[in-house]
Amino acid sequence: MVRAYEDLRIRIADVPTFAANPGNLLQHWPFCYLLDVLQRNHGVRALTLVDAYAMCPFATYPSDVEPTFRRIADGLRTGKSPYEQAWRALTQASSDRYPSTAALALSLWHGPLKLVLCEIDDVSASQLRDWLQYANPMNPQVHHGDWRALFAAGLTEHGDFTIISFDPKMFDRHGPSANRSHLWPDDLDLVVAATQHFIHPVLIQLSTYSTNRDNAYPAVLRTWRERLGKGAFRSVGVLRLRHPTMMTAFFGRAVTSSLSGALGDARRSMCARTGLDFTLSDTLG
Ligand SMILES: C[S@@+](CC[C@H](N)C(=O)[O-])C[C@H]1O[C@@H](n2cnc3c(N)ncnc32)[C@H](O)[C@@H]1O
Repeated sequence: MVRAYEDLRIRIADVPTFAANPGNLLQHWPFCYLLDVLQRNHGVRALTLVDAYAMCPFATYPSDVEPTFRRIADGLRTGKSPYEQAWRALTQASSDRYPSTAALALSLWHGPLKLVLCEIDDVSASQLRDWLQYANPMNPQVHHGDWRALFAAGLTEHGDFTIISFDPKMFDRHGPSANRSHLWPDDLDLVVAATQHFIHPVLIQLSTYSTNRDNAYPAVLRTWRERLGKGAFRSVGVLRLRHPTMMTAFFGRAVTSSLSGALGDARRSMCARTGLDFTLSDTLG
């Protein structure tokens, strides 16, 4: 029997590295706040998390960690926000690893949690499978391949709230391109089609980390609003960092403005704890 995830014979050389920059904070800090609020104030019991770009459960630090990120990561050990608490719990056994969205969710969520994890990379997909055997959430699903194939086949709704996370390298308004790690406008139509039969609330998190190829954020946001709007998704909040330029946005269907309030709390705590200047806009009125 496996005693702990650390007991699994994963060769450390095989563990992918993560970016180790403020993009990780932007992706995970508000996500953890929302999980906390959903279970404490919204009475959500059974949650489904679909992560289209799942990554392995724990990544290692790259050799060239940004000094800002290292300083912030060291400071996370004392913080009280849901992200910091989960991060601390998950890195107690070894401080040189960084937890994924799915690992953070499993740490924070107390009720039934269905994980649907898409991963195109062979090593990461096999590590996800090994980890899930140990972590043992409810009937987890690993889709080894491009997330688009799973969504095109249709998603099944489980529980009473669904979060779908997209953490690609970047959103490219001019895709499709050969790079399947990018997200394109047509992908959002696929998301709308795959979730149109869901009867419970759905929250989508989308991130982008580059404005290359004529992808200035106001134009990207217009595309997100327009495409997701066709599925009755409304912006719950857009968090941005100007330097380096990064953006994560939450779009919800059948969700309340209190989730925008939770994003406001997340922003305040991120700014106070990291010293970085995150902004929040496009909240629900
Ligand atoms: C930036 S990481 C995602 C980080 C992750 N969401 C987290 O928990 O922080 C991107 C991951 O998505 C995977 N990936 C890239 N393109 C993909 C695709 N089209 N379908 C599924 N996985 C993909 C990569 O192999 C990588 O592990």
